[in-house]
Amino acid sequence: MDAFTYREENGSRVLHAEGVSLTAVAAAFGTPTYCYANAVLVARYRALAGAAPHALIRYSIKANDTLAVIRTFARLGAGADIISGGELHRALRAGMAPDNLVFAGPAKSRDEMDLALASGVGQFNVESPAELDALDEAAQAQGTRAPVALRVNPDVDADTHDKIATGRRGDKFGIDDGEIPALYARATAMDGIEPVGLAVHIGSQLTRLAPFEAAFDRLVALVENLRAAGHAVERLGLGGGLGVRYRDETPPDVAAYGALVERARQRLGVTMLIEPGRWLVAPAGLLLTRVIAVKQAGGRCWALVDAAMNDLMRPALYDAWHAIDPVAEPAPDVDMVVTEVAGPVCESGDVLGRARQLPPLSPGDLLAVRDVGAYGSVMASTYNSRPLPAEVMVRGDALSSIRPRQDHESLLARDLAPSWLA
Ligand code: LLP
Repeated sequence: MDAFTYREENGSRVLHAEGVSLTAVAAAFGTPTYCYANAVLVARYRALAGAAPHALIRYSIKANDTLAVIRTFARLGAGADIISGGELHRALRAGMAPDNLVFAGPAKSRDEMDLALASGVGQFNVESPAELDALDEAAQAQGTRAPVALRVNPDVDADTHDKIATGRRGDKFGIDDGEIPALYARATAMDGIEPVGLAVHIGSQLTRLAPFEAAFDRLVALVENLRAAGHAVERLGLGGGLGVRYRDETPPDVAAYGALVERARQRLGVTMLIEPGRWLVAPAGLLLTRVIAVKQAGGRCWALVDAAMNDLMRPALYDAWHAIDPVAEPAPDVDMVVTEVAGPVCESGDVLGRARQLPPLSPGDLLAVRDVGAYGSVMASTYNSRPLPAEVMVRGDALSSIRPRQDHESLLARDLAPSWLA
């Protein structure tokens, strides 16, 4: 479904989020503003849950950590994949049951382990022998046992952007599969550890199913090996990674992905966990921005807008492509102009979209950068002392602030002057 469509408003056609026009969003909250459509979150969650009805969905909070998004999925029955003490805190605040949380990530500090154990987190994905030892010690100190899945590095190339491929030998993630049997046996003997299974996560924005299949095949061999040695293996985590269409990609559809998860479950008789992030939230959000100035320079037309690389890092960091739509629907006969859409940050990399076909723009016009619900606001920074953008959520005709824009005072609030500078 596309909840973002052009609709009539005061005699012209304007991009809406569900029933709310983006001009109204800009008038109420200013720009730049992340705007999410709740209907998209709900529809995508239901589609995934329907496609993989037996899998435990652990929403990957790192994709979008607003309480409103986490709470939306919690209400639909999801648990969460958390990566830090901060995400644990958010998940609990949003109403997730601790038992439905999976603490993943390549390096957890002792403080984070202590907090997660005390909170009753349902599973720890452990990524090294040293981490297993530390978790054993932490659990014993609390008189408890940590449910553990060992994260395997299956040496599979996810065929995605280099910076978000995580399952190749040589990536920092997981434990080499050759080491798993001995480590699993060692874990079984630990008083503070209860081994429950294995996990993988091979990367993000996967546009083919084959790498998932390859990773799963590696797991099958390991599970059979572990069971032959007398170990119980009850849970298998397939990680996240299902890709979305940003431009012209053709990611597998959710039904095919769900069928793969279900085949895996049946083949091994295990409980399957999946950790989707991007697929659930990317298309649910856009970044609303206003044109500050338009200029011709170096033979190009530049639209300089009030959103920048600090608000949305993906184009600068991964050369990611996001569609950019004018909020006012262009007349059908308008001559499009090839336009560079760039922000106010002082780096040449601060370009949100290159060579886009857009109608002639003027200062004050609104643009929508699409499909930024995942890894958009979570990666924003205050570089150039730019306050973090506002975030709002729409549901039907209702428009709610879910994170007010940061103000200049709160930007300064953490700064202290040493006494000798006071
Ligand atoms: N599970 C684990 C252990 C992960 O590391 C990740 C993502 C996920 C699940 C969720 O993956 P997803 O379903 O969202 O693909 N900032 C990058 C993406 C980084 C992904 C990090 N790990 C981007 O903007 O493309």
